[in-house]
Amino acid sequence: MTILVTGAAGFIGANFVFDWLAQSPGGQEPILNLDKLTYAGNPETLAPLQGDSRHTFVRGDIGDTALVASLLAKHQPRAVINFAAESHVDRSIHGPEDFIQTNIVGTFRLLDAVHRYWRDLQPEEKSAFRILHVSTDEVYGSLSPDQPAFSESHRYEPNSPYSASKAASDHLVRAWHHTYGLPVLTTNCSNNYGPYHFPEKLIPLMIVNALAGKPLPVYGDGRQVRDWLYVKDHCSAIREVLLHGRVGEVYNIGGWNEKPNIEIVNTVCKLLDELRPKADGSSYNAQISYIKDRPGHDRRYAIDASKLERELGWRPSETFETGIRKTVQWYLSNPEWVARVQSGAYRDWVQTQYAAAGVDA
Ligand code: NAD
Ligand code: DAU
Repeated sequence: MTILVTGAAGFIGANFVFDWLAQSPGGQEPILNLDKLTYAGNPETLAPLQGDSRHTFVRGDIGDTALVASLLAKHQPRAVINFAAESHVDRSIHGPEDFIQTNIVGTFRLLDAVHRYWRDLQPEEKSAFRILHVSTDEVYGSLSPDQPAFSESHRYEPNSPYSASKAASDHLVRAWHHTYGLPVLTTNCSNNYGPYHFPEKLIPLMIVNALAGKPLPVYGDGRQVRDWLYVKDHCSAIREVLLHGRVGEVYNIGGWNEKPNIEIVNTVCKLLDELRPKADGSSYNAQISYIKDRPGHDRRYAIDASKLERELGWRPSETFETGIRKTVQWYLSNPEWVARVQSGAYRDWVQTQYAAAGVDA
């Protein structure tokens, strides 16, 4: 049996592939990886799998109906996991179009192709089949400090082009279940961190800028709160939901780990001070630079992951302290990976996003 995983040359998808091949029964159940290789997709991350017959890579778009239909017909997957998306909030503010195209139109076309495939399966395969859509806590909007964490029944209140496009995709997934009976599962997860994280996002950006002696750009007052989860724990939660989740249900995934951004940045600096001390003995936190806030910046996210624990017995296995140490160590041990993802396109983005704020990040 095969599973089709989309967007698995990106941060979470690639971690999922490694995790899956290490965990699946006998480590043998193969993965068909469909990824468009946007700026965020990095085939080099998957280089250790070259020659491994359990991983097949196809470069392509989830919105290419003919391609997806032919892959489904040829490989006959028993499940599809959809990671493919435009994922960066700041980019969605600068240019929402790609987000609408991939996250909404692409998800629609994927659902449509999967529905046609599933409809014609034999009864046994048909009832065992699942499509799992990977989504985000950002669809629920922003919490005030005293509000309870997001449960699965929290109202959808997306505030950025990114979160609005993910919210739309979640609604499509729900509709394909209710209208056509497609056996869907949806997960809404909080902020991930860990190896292979593209350095446009907070934690890897802080690590690579600190090491390069560049400013550490903190938006606004740095008191915005996110709920951080080590990426491997997200992968294990997805495996659990795929295996035991109830069809048509939504599962929130989070780390029970709310932290203000400035605390995250200070923790990264402290770890670097310990693991890669500066020659002059000063702390990396001297590089922190407060800059103009993100437009429409959500103040606080927090996930109530108790349904996942209650129904499937899942809890994260890393604490933030163990996960962030592993992450910083990974970046220190993999300077070639970092150097290569900081290509021309990456430099253009950094110029667009941070030069306007007067920061040479
Ligand atoms: P990422 O940006 O690192 O990777 C996205 C991948 O999707 C890339 O490899 C890219 O090439 C591919 N892709 C983009 N458009 C495509 C298309 N049209 N067809 C096929 N492939 C395409 O993103 P990530 O951080 O790994 O996030 C993966 C998923 O998890 C996304 O759906 C995101 O919304 C969701 N999510 C992310 C986080 C997080 O903290 N990073 C948290 C919760 C949910
Ligand atoms: O909550 C889940 C979401 O987490 C995912 O759905 C998104 O795909 C993922 O990108 C992430 O979104 P955020 O906007 O929360 O992540 P980001 O790393 O971009 O920012 C985290 C916080 O840090 C946020 O409050 C903005 C702030 N920030 C970010 C950057 C890049 C800064 O202060 N400075 C920065 O330079």
